[in-house]
Amino acid sequence: MAGQTFDPALVHERMEKMYRPQRRIYDLTRKGYLLGRDRLLDSIAAPPGTRILEIGCGTGRNLVRLGRRLPGVLLCGVEPARSMLETAEAALARAGFAGRTRLAYATAESLDAERQLGARAFEHVVLSYCLSIVPEPLAALDRALDLLAPGGTLHLVDFGPMEGLPGWARAAMCAWLDRFGVRHRPEVAVELHRRAAHGEGRLEAESIAGGYAEVFRFARPGAAAARDHAVAWTGVRTPC
Ligand SMILES: C[S@@+](CC[C@H](N)C(=O)[O-])C[C@H]1O[C@@H](n2cnc3c(N)ncnc32)[C@H](O)[C@@H]1O
Repeated sequence: MAGQTFDPALVHERMEKMYRPQRRIYDLTRKGYLLGRDRLLDSIAAPPGTRILEIGCGTGRNLVRLGRRLPGVLLCGVEPARSMLETAEAALARAGFAGRTRLAYATAESLDAERQLGARAFEHVVLSYCLSIVPEPLAALDRALDLLAPGGTLHLVDFGPMEGLPGWARAAMCAWLDRFGVRHRPEVAVELHRRAAHGEGRLEAESIAGGYAEVFRFARPGAAAARDHAVAWTGVRTPC
């Protein structure tokens, strides 16, 4: 798909087809193998009023976890699979967070954040096992970085190069992921290091379980943004 014109409709269709049948068992089945998510989420510190956006929020389990630990933060999610977005909306409402949630039916690349989420920038942007499935990860990464407020941080966890795993385990895992169009994206690390080297931000990188997963925190320079937007937030926006 690289080099072709990006068509969000194709992504909506593909993701819905993939995730609709799994949406009820998704969280249970991913618990054991989407490693590093909770450690990443639990490292985010944010006072009330802080805007947090997860791109590719799936069932909303990460946003619910953030909402439980961080009272008063604004929880935003973007998701192209309609059934996953509906699942996220229900989960956030059940958790009692409807009043501080905004969800958008969009891809990272097509999101109009101001119109769909009511905010142009976010203090924290989370990408959890998302870039390994998008057709053009660098375009999605670029968009995620664009959405960071000055002083904001991008938190990224995804499949790594698995260099520390035995050859057979690495091969089996890669073959399994390949069935779903998922793979490690080495270009993401290269791009983040390039940006850090050019002074665009401060980068921390971490490898988990022999490179099974990799974590990046990329902090944009600048003072943390004013949080006067909080008063304008009144509840879940109809996602579609
Ligand atoms: C493996 S799931 C991860 C879900 C969630 N972030 C988690 O950690 O449980 C990947 C998610 O990314 C979404 N996704 C796929 N392509 C996307 C795109 N171009 N922009 C935004 N999200 C996308 C999928 O629909 C799916 O919900």
